[in-house]
Amino acid sequence: MKKQVELKDGREILIRPMMADDLEGSVAFFTALPEEDRAYLRRDVTNRDVVRQRFEEMESGAVQRLVAEVDGEIVADGALEISGEEWKKHLGEIRLIVARPFRRQGLGVLMTHELYDLATAARVEEIIVKLMGPQEAGRGILERLGFEHQTTIPDYVQDLGGGKQDMILMRCDLEALWRRMEDFLSTGDWEHAR
Ligand SMILES: CC(C)(COP(=O)(O)OP(=O)(O)OC[C@H]1O[C@@H](n2cnc3c(N)ncnc32)[C@H](O)[C@@H]1OP(=O)(O)O)[C@@H](O)C(=O)NCCC(=O)NCCS
Repeated sequence: MKKQVELKDGREILIRPMMADDLEGSVAFFTALPEEDRAYLRRDVTNRDVVRQRFEEMESGAVQRLVAEVDGEIVADGALEISGEEWKKHLGEIRLIVARPFRRQGLGVLMTHELYDLATAARVEEIIVKLMGPQEAGRGILERLGFEHQTTIPDYVQDLGGGKQDMILMRCDLEALWRRMEDFLSTGDWEHAR
């Protein structure tokens, strides 16, 4: 899967699967993120060994990863994780981060669209997302795309600075998400952006 998309401001972006030789590009992407963005990621992705571990998970098939690329540079990273446990195999968890200069241009939605495609191919029935309390942009896009707030567990996770944060779980049935996505993309600025 490789897809050339156009953002709302006309910039052209390539969305494609992450590949083994993206390691350096991936380290560069995460290192360039402001500390405020990195603080709420579940792992310290400025550590090369941690990034290498992400690649190993991808190669083992536990996680499918996509990147958005412009002029050879990674500008967004998305993941779909399906649990290997029998009782959770209908659930797909997605994670997404877009570089700041590319936000509010539709890239988050376009990446999510491709993650839904991967989830559909994997026969996932429901998508879940886990967020930390301060990730307001994340809540914004998820609510806009039809996810519902399921629960908040107070002070359940730690940010990279060691501060305790609420963990928010959002979820939605994949079929309902597809309907919402199609409605969303068929309106206004989005018509050309795919
Ligand atoms: C969340 C994130 C991926 C959104 O990416 P993006 O490319 O800016 O998203 P889009 O441009 O596709 O936004 C689509 C819609 O989501 C909502 N949205 C996006 N950012 C928002 C924000 N900061 N506040 C409120 N709503 C927001 C809006 O409704 C937006 O539509 P609009 O721009 O027409 O109003 C990006 O802000 C990010 O990487 N944040 C840090 C990591 C994170 O929180 N990830 C989410 C966990 S999965």
